[in-house]
Amino acid sequence: MVDVMLLPATSPELKARCIEIRKTVFVQEQGYVHLDEDNQPEDAGALHFLLADSANIDAGFMGTARLSARPEHTYILSRIALLPSSRGNGNGAKLIQALETWVFQQPGFHIVQLEAQEGTYGFYEKLGYTRQTPEPYIKDRKPHLLMMKDLWAQRTE
Ligand SMILES: CC(C)(COP(=O)(O)OP(=O)(O)OC[C@H]1O[C@@H](n2cnc3c(N)ncnc32)[C@H](O)[C@@H]1OP(=O)(O)O)[C@@H](O)C(=O)NCCC(=O)NCCS
Repeated sequence: MVDVMLLPATSPELKARCIEIRKTVFVQEQGYVHLDEDNQPEDAGALHFLLADSANIDAGFMGTARLSARPEHTYILSRIALLPSSRGNGNGAKLIQALETWVFQQPGFHIVQLEAQEGTYGFYEKLGYTRQTPEPYIKDRKPHLLMMKDLWAQRTE
């Protein structure tokens, strides 16, 4: 188990690292053809994050995700991706939890919504996300479910 650090990708260089990871995972590994890098307004308006091993930042970034603010207290979480070598040790859960902590620190925001792709529903359910669509729908040629978590309702302290 590693201690992770969430780093806002505020410079063009760091944003480029996010896109590199997204291309490795979504395009090369999963075969998606369209990414929002081609859809600049949505991607440019989002906040981008990188995940690193806080004890070994020089080893490189482990993963990425982005958040986009929406009305009604909500952030949309998307482009959640860990490089294959960083998966399966709780790092995905730590990435989501670190992003939730970030959202909860933003005044007025307490809801996280995401579109989970087929095969990951159980991952998000373990983290407290609930299904908002009864059946999967097709997005980018793959089944997805809309899921959400109210951080206020599920707070433990
Ligand atoms: C999805 C992803 C972020 C999960 O991260 P991860 O590091 O592999 O998962 P973790 O090790 O943190 O798993 C946390 C828990 O969820 C479970 N889990 C992980 N992936 C799961 C899946 N696909 N389905 C169901 N449960 C899953 C683990 O078994 C673990 O359970 P435990 O707490 O009982 O031990 C990662 O696999 C990934 O980046 N995949 C490729 C990109 C992708 O598909 N992104 C999602 C887009 S919606």
